[in-house]
Amino acid sequence: MYKIAVIPGDGIGPEVIREGIKVLEATGIKFKWIEYPYGAEYYLKTGEVLPDEALKEIEKCHAIYLGAVGDPRVKPGILEKGLLLKLRFHFDQFVNLRPIKLYPGVSCPLKDKKPEDINFYVVRENTEDFYIGMGDRFSKKKHKSILEVKRKLYNLNFEISITQDKDREIAYQVGVISREGARRVIKFAFELAKRKGLERVTSVDKANVLTNVYSLWREVFEEVSKEYNGIETEFAYVDAITMWFVKNPEWYRVVVTPNMFGDIITDLGAMIQGGLGLAPGANINPDGISMFEPIHGSAPKYAGKNVANPIATILAGQLMLEQLGEEKAAEIVEKAVIEILSEGNFRTRDMGGTSTTSEVGDAIAKKVEELA
Ligand code: NAD
Ligand code: IPM
Ligand code: MN
Repeated sequence: MYKIAVIPGDGIGPEVIREGIKVLEATGIKFKWIEYPYGAEYYLKTGEVLPDEALKEIEKCHAIYLGAVGDPRVKPGILEKGLLLKLRFHFDQFVNLRPIKLYPGVSCPLKDKKPEDINFYVVRENTEDFYIGMGDRFSKKKHKSILEVKRKLYNLNFEISITQDKDREIAYQVGVISREGARRVIKFAFELAKRKGLERVTSVDKANVLTNVYSLWREVFEEVSKEYNGIETEFAYVDAITMWFVKNPEWYRVVVTPNMFGDIITDLGAMIQGGLGLAPGANINPDGISMFEPIHGSAPKYAGKNVANPIATILAGQLMLEQLGEEKAAEIVEKAVIEILSEGNFRTRDMGGTSTTSEVGDAIAKKVEELA
């Protein structure tokens, strides 16, 4: 029996999570779902985003299953940082694993690219970089700010003191890469390549401009790569890799990237695998509690309409099964998704069909039952 904390969240979150649970239930594995109401409604009612008691309770779960957060009625950042990022940081989920896989029967916006051309992993660092949450805004000649970062790896205190020649408005945001933070995620990427028999690991950065943070990242990548004979390595600048993802996606096997670039390139990755409605992600702490979610957001314009594609969330459920060690069930879920996609009878609107969210979920759950 697995105890899973469920945070359906905002917008289409509850609709896609409902289908994800349906499919996971169909595997026959026993789950206890512990649902939490956090998100925009709860915040607007109570002023609270994610109470510490909830974190304590979630600590007793095997994993977290999350829909999406974000709502046009709430200022950007409150829910995204206060709920989603807080969970990632609190549970030290330092890997954000995002498979980019084009399934048969899914139309790809890239001309002439086939499923065998688009099948790789992005391993995104998930606790540092410009996501560290340190910054401020000021308008006076003299400015002082004390900024704190608390992570499992460290506590940082930045005392920032700025003077300028006259009053003018300035905002700044600090990015942090630590040797240990970079090392553990880069190591994860190489271990993944080794485990899956993949021959190349590509490191993404912008070491030609953001020279402090990303020269450290590069140095660590080079060091770690020496521990893995037989795995090819290369560097790519983030601007160029967006071009290469479109031009030659077949080149990639494992791509390891700092946090912010990872966010950006995986929406592009999602598009070349058929759209955000199909792209899952796993926030992994290999020795702790991991969290599984689609990489898309709350898509507010589709909320409550039963039209969103639940497949990204269903595949996030598949990643959860893998992480829980339920490989057989994980394979079945993926196989069911593949069969439904290639049969082509159930497709949501984003895929050019007319099926509802729940029809697609039902069809995949039924397929899982047949295969299980
Ligand atoms: P989004 O990912 O929510 O949606 C962008 C567009 O992609 C949608 O308008 C829709 O056309 C399409 N789309 C996304 N998911 C889909 C699905 N399952 N089925 C069909 N189409 C789908 O991104 P956004 O519009 O930039 O952000 C909306 C809100 O979500 C914001 O508040 C943002 O901060 C938040 N957000 C949350 C997460 C998360 O919870 N992990 C991720 C990204 C954005
Ligand atoms: C994602 C999202 C989040 C991120 C936001 C909502 C904090 O865009 O999961 O990709 O930037 O990581
Ligand atoms: Mn994103």
